[in-house]
Amino acid sequence: MKGRESGMPEEDYWNSFFDAGCVIEKLFGEAGCRGNAVEFGCGYGTFTFPAARHATGTVCALDIEPDLIAELQMRAKREGIANIVAATRDFMANGTGLGSGSQSHAMIYNLLHIDHPDRLLREAQRVLGPNGRLSVIHWRSDIPTPRGPSLEIRPTPEQCKAWIEASGFQNTRVIDLQDCCPFHFGIVASR
Ligand SMILES: C[S@@+](CC[C@H](N)C(=O)[O-])C[C@H]1O[C@@H](n2cnc3c(N)ncnc32)[C@H](O)[C@@H]1O
Repeated sequence: MKGRESGMPEEDYWNSFFDAGCVIEKLFGEAGCRGNAVEFGCGYGTFTFPAARHATGTVCALDIEPDLIAELQMRAKREGIANIVAATRDFMANGTGLGSGSQSHAMIYNLLHIDHPDRLLREAQRVLGPNGRLSVIHWRSDIPTPRGPSLEIRPTPEQCKAWIEASGFQNTRVIDLQDCCPFHFGIVASR
């Protein structure tokens, strides 16, 4: 089932909120992703394309919306980017379908306000290998923002951190994304 308040506005408007390359550089770190990455709810691919440039393996971009996936596949083909595999999938109902321990990085961006975030985080934990890293970004609730889910369901960094740690992740750190997207916060954690 599609997560609550997870629809997308027009693409240029959405992309205007982020310097996506800057976000990926900060969250993937200097070493980048050595291996495969999975992106839960890739939307327009705002972060998929920069992630593919910072991963030695494949970026598996999943979304429940077939039109978004078709667009993303066409763009990857047009731009000759071979290390993106995009698939239509309801990962809340069916998981990712990826093998346990097969991924080096799991991306959950602007989605942790859904019902059952623990289910999503446990699936991320399952697919990550021993040195795997999770990254999360979400809209801030401590300042007015031009978009984002209702404040009643918008998780704070502290709430996200608690969920992430309860799902078994370690070394959880809040990352300042002011230079990349002033309306957002970031979090990284180790499997
Ligand atoms: C708010 S958008 C964020 C897109 C992208 N992560 C970004 O930050 O640019 C959330 C995305 O998650 C997708 N989504 C919501 N529920 C889903 C589900 N159960 N399975 C797969 N995708 C889902 C939506 O279709 C949407 O594209």
